[in-house]
Amino acid sequence: MEETTPDRPGICDYEGSNYRTEFWEGQGRDYEDRVERVALKKLLPERGKHLLEIGAGFGRLTNEYTERYDRVVLLDYSFSQLEYAREHLGASDKFTYVAADAYELPFRPAKFDGVSMIRTIHHMKNVNGVLREIARVLSPEGVFILEHANKRNMKAIVRYALRRQSWSPYSHEPYEFVELNFVFHPHYMRDMLALNGFEVQKRMPVSFFRLGALKRRLPLNFLVKADDLLQNTGAFISPSVFVKSIRRAEVPYPKDITGSTSIPTDGMDVDPLFACPKSGGPLVREGDHLVSLKTGLRYAFRDGIYDFKAAVNE
Ligand SMILES: C[S@@+](CC[C@H](N)C(=O)[O-])C[C@H]1O[C@@H](n2cnc3c(N)ncnc32)[C@H](O)[C@@H]1O
Repeated sequence: MEETTPDRPGICDYEGSNYRTEFWEGQGRDYEDRVERVALKKLLPERGKHLLEIGAGFGRLTNEYTERYDRVVLLDYSFSQLEYAREHLGASDKFTYVAADAYELPFRPAKFDGVSMIRTIHHMKNVNGVLREIARVLSPEGVFILEHANKRNMKAIVRYALRRQSWSPYSHEPYEFVELNFVFHPHYMRDMLALNGFEVQKRMPVSFFRLGALKRRLPLNFLVKADDLLQNTGAFISPSVFVKSIRRAEVPYPKDITGSTSIPTDGMDVDPLFACPKSGGPLVREGDHLVSLKTGLRYAFRDGIYDFKAAVNE
């Protein structure tokens, strides 16, 4: 377990969890799954090259990207979630599986023209830190699709009005309702995106009917269609918000955009995509390992997954 720092203030660890079977499959969340796909279809560009899916989990939504992007990189902190995704989606060149921390993305700058992060930022205490990392790995004018849990949702508004809840859904600061589980005010997220070099293009409220009683009584297709229509109203009182942003081209990159280095790499098998998550420096391929020229840290490629969670010694 790595120590926590202000930049990396703890990780909500899904390693070995049954997230797929205990939260999704057979758990009455077809409605949530469907409306998230509707929102994604509206926001994703028609075509793209390289998409990074941050917090990809077991790959629930990955098939929404495969038709539109040439290559999809699934990144998650949980190795076991990625193992399932790989079993399920396969080992083709289309997919790359990366176990890593979103606060320290193991990529060179500007490598992706698309990034998505769905149902993941609510686990992040350092929103600024993760958005800064996303702006670093996105190419100029690359697209970022973010989903975040909405603090100002209908249930919270009603509970606050009835004094059943102490925290205000209207104040802008994030609220941590369970350790490493946050809800965010839509204005807070909009401001954080702007602060990190993103131009917000479209925001959509999603998942209005996330209520067991409604889901049990009304037909699924009806609820999905109604949500589809409400997504265009700008009524930000739903539990979930989707935001499409563009990385502003004029915002400078913190490091040399080419990822070049003063360390000589002539004749070495330098990886064109990855960079050392600790130093940002180049990684050289040595068999099943990527080795950092700057720090000597070695990262394993095992069972078809790049493992940046911890450096290895051998
Ligand atoms: C609620 S699940 C969502 C998975 C997927 N996006 C979906 O919607 O089905 C959150 C995921 O975020 C991952 N995660 C949490 N903190 C992370 C971090 N710091 N870096 C990378 N992944 C993280 C977890 O391992 C988990 O798989």
